[in-house]
Amino acid sequence: MGDVQVLDFKSMPKIELHAHLSGSISRQCLHEIWIEKKAANKTDLEDPLIVMPLGKHDYDLETFFPLFSSYIYRLVDDADSLHYSTISVIEDFAKDGVVYLELRTTPRALGSMDKIAYVNHVLTAIDVAQQKFESIQVRLILSIADRRNTLVEANEVVALALRFRDSGVVGLDLCGDPTKGDVSLFTPAFEAAREAGIKITVHFAEAECSASEAELETIMDWMPDRLGHVIHVPESVKKQITAHSGIGLELCLSCNVQAKMIVGSFDAHHFGDWWHVDGPVVVPCTDDVGVFGSPVSNEWALIQEHFHLGRNDILGLARKGIDVIFGGEEQKARLREIMW
Ligand code: IMP
Ligand code: ZN
Repeated sequence: MGDVQVLDFKSMPKIELHAHLSGSISRQCLHEIWIEKKAANKTDLEDPLIVMPLGKHDYDLETFFPLFSSYIYRLVDDADSLHYSTISVIEDFAKDGVVYLELRTTPRALGSMDKIAYVNHVLTAIDVAQQKFESIQVRLILSIADRRNTLVEANEVVALALRFRDSGVVGLDLCGDPTKGDVSLFTPAFEAAREAGIKITVHFAEAECSASEAELETIMDWMPDRLGHVIHVPESVKKQITAHSGIGLELCLSCNVQAKMIVGSFDAHHFGDWWHVDGPVVVPCTDDVGVFGSPVSNEWALIQEHFHLGRNDILGLARKGIDVIFGGEEQKARLREIMW
């Protein structure tokens, strides 16, 4: 364990690998977008500060997903709000000391903007933000965000990832309400992505209903590079993960506690089971900081508080995360320079 010394987690250069763009927009930013739209008579929505009051973070799996369909997607529904919110999200991460960010987002058609234009817009905003906030580098992962999607829709996301792979898209994600859908339908899409060299991350065993051995075996057969959440994992699959040297585990403490995805509080989080295991690489992540309200600097503080990692454990773990980024050798070299 080593010395217990409170670190300045905000100044510590950090990596963030599991952050959904629309879920990472701060309420202040949503409010600013709303004020502008309201003044231009472009929205009938209520003020986001009323719909999602500041300080309210206890969204569970039932109340979380409708936030997007019933509010956030209806407010962030054009090129201007998409641009503004993407830059704001990156600014928030940069100010929290994140030096390398992999944002993920679901390509959405917005009005006259098709999914290709959506990805283009997000990449343009990323470029602008990187120039403005020089300390941070950002890459993009494209999400298949509804487990009820068809294979055709999933293939469309793979095609977009391929199309934009030289412009900053580095991976493919499967997310969405874990109580819905049958992931085995997507096997050809993930196989095609893997064969094309696109990195893969998957929301894994987030809820008991999405943690059958059959589902988890199906996902492991896709040979994912990283797994998100990793909560309700049966022993047999745990062994498989442990034996998989170099697989990244994106663990999201506050999200899992706030959304009651685990039983108990921070002390009971499975971070404690995984962080010291040889083989898999644990990376603390925020998931949806706009909803759950805990920036990644605070996730590290929670880790120190509840799992009593010493200074060297923390610095070692943070640096290990470099191995599982999707951003390539140049980024890895840059991070090895910055991260002590
Ligand atoms: P977007 O992809 O940028 O629009 O980000 C929001 C989307 O991410 C939502 O529609 C959700 O489907 C998905 N998402 C965010 N957090 C989670 C999670 O914890 N589990 C599964 N899906 C999630
Ligand atoms: Zn997620």
